[in-house]
Amino acid sequence: MTSLAIPPVHDDVVGASLKPQIDSIVGELIDSLPDPDKLSPSERRGIIARYTAVLEGNFIYWMSAAYLSAKSEEARPILLDNLREEIRDCHPAMLRNFTIAAQAFPTDSDALEVHDDLTNVRLFLGRLSGVQNLLTMAFFEAFIQQFMAYLANLAGTQGSAERVYTDVHGVCDVAHSQELFRALAAELAVDPIDPSTDLFEGVDLLRTLIQTIIYGRGEKLAA
Ligand SMILES: [Fe+2]
Repeated sequence: MTSLAIPPVHDDVVGASLKPQIDSIVGELIDSLPDPDKLSPSERRGIIARYTAVLEGNFIYWMSAAYLSAKSEEARPILLDNLREEIRDCHPAMLRNFTIAAQAFPTDSDALEVHDDLTNVRLFLGRLSGVQNLLTMAFFEAFIQQFMAYLANLAGTQGSAERVYTDVHGVCDVAHSQELFRALAAELAVDPIDPSTDLFEGVDLLRTLIQTIIYGRGEKLAA
C-alpha cells in the first residue's frame, strides 16, 4: 500500500519520537480527568456541553485544514477518507443526539467559555502548515479515542443511555489515529520542517483547549 512509499527514516522519527511524545501528552490528559462521581451534575453537564460546542462545528473544519495543508500524495487520501466517513455517517448529528440525550446542549455561556482557546486552534490550523497540522490532528484522534469511555460515563451519570457517538468513536478513531501518524511520516518526507519550528505548537494549543473543555475557564484561571 502507500506506506511503502514513505522513506523509513520518517517512519522512524514518527515511531521513535513523535508518537511516544503524543502518547505521553494524551496519557497525562486522560490521567487528569476528574472522577465523574465527584463532580456536580452541572459540572458534568458543562464538560459535555463544552466538548460539543467545540467538536460539532469544528472537527470537519480542522480535518479540512489538515487536508488543504498536506503536500504529500500519500497523506491526502488518508485525510479524505477521514472526512468522507465524517460526512457520510454524519458524525455532527451523532454528537448532537448524544448531547441532547444527556441534557447538555451547549448554551451561549458554554460556547463563550471555549471561545478564546478555540479561536487560537482555528487560526493556527488556518496557517496551513502540513506537518504541524497533521501532528495536531494525530494528537486529537489519539485523545478522543481514549476520551470516549469517559464521555460515555459522564452522560451515563447524567441519566442518558445514548451511546452511538461514543461507541463509534471509541472504535474508529484507533484506526484514524494510526493512519494520521502514517500521513505525518509521509508529509515529513516531502516537506521537511525547519528545525527551528516548534512542531508541537498546534498540539499545545489544542491541549489548552481540551483542558478548558474539561475544567472550564474559571477553574483553569484560578489554578
Ligand atoms: Fe467523528
